[in-house]
Amino acid sequence: MIPRKQLPPDVRLDTLAVREGLPASPWGENSEALFLTSSFVHPDAATAAARFANEEEAFVYTRFTNPTVTMMERRLAALEGTEACIGTSSGMAAILLLCMGLLKAGDHVICSRSVFGSTIKLLQGEFGKFGVQTTFVSQTDVSEWRDAIQPNTKLLFAETPTNPLTEVCDIQALAQIAHGAGALLAVDNCFCSPSLQKPAELGADVIIHSGTKYLDGQGRVIAGAICGPEHVINDKLVSVMRSAGMSLSPFNAWVVLKGLETLSIRMREQSRRALELAQWLEQQPQVQRVYHPSLKSHPQHELAMAQQSGQGGAVVSFIVQGDGPLARANAFAVIDATQICSITANLGDTKTTITHPSSTTHGRLTEEQRLSAGIAQGLIRVAVGLEDIEDIKADLARGLQQISA
Ligand SMILES: Cc1ncc(COP(=O)(O)O)c(C=O)c1O
Repeated sequence: MIPRKQLPPDVRLDTLAVREGLPASPWGENSEALFLTSSFVHPDAATAAARFANEEEAFVYTRFTNPTVTMMERRLAALEGTEACIGTSSGMAAILLLCMGLLKAGDHVICSRSVFGSTIKLLQGEFGKFGVQTTFVSQTDVSEWRDAIQPNTKLLFAETPTNPLTEVCDIQALAQIAHGAGALLAVDNCFCSPSLQKPAELGADVIIHSGTKYLDGQGRVIAGAICGPEHVINDKLVSVMRSAGMSLSPFNAWVVLKGLETLSIRMREQSRRALELAQWLEQQPQVQRVYHPSLKSHPQHELAMAQQSGQGGAVVSFIVQGDGPLARANAFAVIDATQICSITANLGDTKTTITHPSSTTHGRLTEEQRLSAGIAQGLIRVAVGLEDIEDIKADLARGLQQISA
């Protein structure tokens, strides 16, 4: 191993995003190596035994650890400002691992009812089957979280801003409630990434990532991660990962590792373009309402600006004119008229994506669950990429012009 230069202790986020990792291999590569190997060779049987028994630290098997995965984990932990990080095969695998590691039958979870649809399904459906009960509460009304606390509450789960309505919750207030009850606060930081928001600095215990989104940033791989203190990551989650195997592939870890190097530049630029698009949408007569945290009209604008480094993120949602079935028809017309935006449910890509949440990301929820989460049939979500924003405005104008205001 060739040690890389020792980073000074006070380097900033953009430097960590490019430099934090592991020593180079004996070849001294500048770009981090991709270790595509399932297992690692030991010099003799006694060393193998010591390594399997965790008496000697070494890479053993890629389901447990792998140098490329470890580099990604170290870099992401440095960006989030946490002691440790564990990579997972997807964002949902990260939430699964967290819940398997922290919860048992009879435990209670409090979760915002506006979180990603699969998170609701996982907590209510799958963990419900195993005797973990979840109370779903308002994203924005802190008193609902406080009132939902029970003696067996172990975890508060929040996502901020939410997908697709960009509702913001007060991380500091939720951390106080969690800690007062002896529970942990987990925050899904997928929409902001650590370049805009650092939940650990605001008191969150663990941070969830879908690396599929901004961390990769170019829509190439499925990946996930959990950042947090060593007593959670190493003591509660590593052994579950070893047994259950929701491990991150080295190839996907490498793609995310390299994606992190441009994270801040992409986030700042995509965020700026998203605000420009949101302001333009607010002027369009065929648009009923626009959701973006940087807009003064956003109900949690001030909280979002304080929590998110003064930036709104790259997701803009809006409701087109129309009642009943017409709302859905109008939303489909706008989506279908686009010639640039990709019609896909993913986000966090340099390519702008457009989706109809009610029939895609939130399609598995009941209409009642959708309505309580504010997912209207006329709602469209745009995740702004890096194309010229004037071209994206023109792309949306094509469909909007077909709707009678
Ligand atoms: C906020 C949020 N969390 C978690 C996930 C799940 O991530 P993945 O698709 O990588 O499993 C998503 C996916 O869209 C998401 O939007």
